[in-house]
Amino acid sequence: MKTHIFPDYPQLCQAVAQNVINCVNAKPNALICIAGGDTPLGVFAALVEAQKQGHVDFSHTQFLGLDEWLGLSKADKGSCREMVWHHFFDKLTLRDKQICFFDGLTTHPQEECQRVDRYIDQHGPIDCIVLGIGMNGHIGFNEPGASLDNTCHVIDLDAVTQAVSVKYFDTQRNVQQGISLGLKTILAAKKIVLMASGEKKAGIVAQTVNHPASRDIPSTLVKTVTQASLYVDKAAANALE
Ligand code: GLP
Repeated sequence: MKTHIFPDYPQLCQAVAQNVINCVNAKPNALICIAGGDTPLGVFAALVEAQKQGHVDFSHTQFLGLDEWLGLSKADKGSCREMVWHHFFDKLTLRDKQICFFDGLTTHPQEECQRVDRYIDQHGPIDCIVLGIGMNGHIGFNEPGASLDNTCHVIDLDAVTQAVSVKYFDTQRNVQQGISLGLKTILAAKKIVLMASGEKKAGIVAQTVNHPASRDIPSTLVKTVTQASLYVDKAAANALE
């Protein structure tokens, strides 16, 4: 897996955004998936600016949500849906039919998984996916030990993920489960950009690079596919040799 190291977060985000822009410029109706969470916020801003400047046109692009906390909706600050809409979808003029995103409020999670799997069957494979890395190496909500055969599924969240989750929310949440694209779908994407920023990710970035590919650290599995690259800023690359 090729590793790209950038001096700072803004330059990292520009480079990651350029991958998405290139993909959409080559295929206007591309299927794009960008993680929620803090890491891609600067990528969203760069993409919104690129559309404003006329460097890309998202009007035919399809967007797929990566994951969501079960029990949370767009009205809940810090939900994946809230973050992606607030920072990205609301700033582009997208039509509803351009977006497929997990409904965290679903009372029938299995049916919700089937709905998103059907969408992927129709529109997939994903042309370009931008992934963050959880502190435990999760990608999407594919926690340590996740199966390589999984498509969309419901996950009991790892203790690390539950502890880290408080950073997103302004009130106390007791998130215990997530709903996510599975490793099978993620690793079948035509282009995979694994992205990390900041000193706090230096340890898991070094593990991702140095540890043999293993389901114990899902981010290492990205190394097993040729179409994947790691994009990090200098701080996140701190523990790399
Ligand atoms: C979160 C999300 C992932 C995200 C990852 C890293 O829990 N489920 O989709 O990529 O963990 O999050 P962050 O970018 O906030 O560090």
